[in-house]
Amino acid sequence: MNKFAGKTALITGASSGIGESITHQLAKAGANLILVARREDKLQILKDTLEPEFGITVTVISHDLAVDGSGQALYEKTKALHLHVDILINNAGYAKHGPFHDTPLETHLHMMHLLTTTFTELTYLYTADMKQKGSGYVLLVASIAGFMPIPQFSTYAASKAFVLSLGESLNKELSAFGINVTTLCPGGTATEFMDISGQEISGMRRHAIMTSDAVAKSGLRAMAKGNAVNVPGILYKLSMAGLRVVPRNLQALIGEAATK
Ligand SMILES: NC(=O)c1ccc[n+]([C@@H]2O[C@H](COP(=O)([O-])OP(=O)(O)OC[C@H]3O[C@@H](n4cnc5c(N)ncnc54)[C@H](OP(=O)(O)O)[C@@H]3O)[C@@H](O)[C@H]2O)c1
Repeated sequence: MNKFAGKTALITGASSGIGESITHQLAKAGANLILVARREDKLQILKDTLEPEFGITVTVISHDLAVDGSGQALYEKTKALHLHVDILINNAGYAKHGPFHDTPLETHLHMMHLLTTTFTELTYLYTADMKQKGSGYVLLVASIAGFMPIPQFSTYAASKAFVLSLGESLNKELSAFGINVTTLCPGGTATEFMDISGQEISGMRRHAIMTSDAVAKSGLRAMAKGNAVNVPGILYKLSMAGLRVVPRNLQALIGEAATK
């Protein structure tokens, strides 16, 4: 984590959950931060706390990342502020759980925009600058949902499969330019995500839920090492390894049962 000291990290979805945990851990590591989300008040509280505590600079940008051109607009805002991004944390996201047709089409498209188009846009723009510099770090927050089809979570799982594939491809392609691209695939994590998605976690599955701090730590360590993919937690690691030998139609049943 020492290698992040003095670097500038842009974190999307910094106002809560995994993004907020990453924010705290990068601040502790001595990185300057650009915090992005819609809830400016939450980002401002982080700035007011972290700047004096760690002697870093924190820039707050309130920005909706789910609208057309929002990645480009964010990139231009950081350029106008003369901010150079060494570490890009593509994290902002949400999901809606339930039957495909119970969720309005606009919601599916809105979520997919945030999780695929904006992730690609930001990664494209900031890694172009990193290439010129010959160094950089990118963390793409996908999910274990990216490893399997999940009925009732269909467009979310498909979007995370996109992120996982994008990240694995770019890990190979951009390492030649000194850029580490890591895809973080968390399992169930205790954040606002659960309430927003409408998922009900009950019974034994509650014991598998991780803290956002543990997920963030695992992802940042993997990014520092340049690992292609990181699945935090031994339970999820073993489950995803085992899933590889299971036929896709069975994976879909497992996926549905695990997220019900
Ligand atoms: N929690 C889990 O079980 C879990 C598991 C696997 C993967 N993940 C992934 O982890 C990532 C972070 O989720 P989380 O669990 O930390 O959930 P969270 O606590 O709900 O955080 C989501 C973050 O995304 C931001 N965001 C949402 N929509 C946005 C928009 N339109 N524009 C800008 N920012 C937006 C939110 O900020 P504002 O509301 O302030 O805009 C918030 O900071 C997501 O990509 C999620 O898919 C979560």
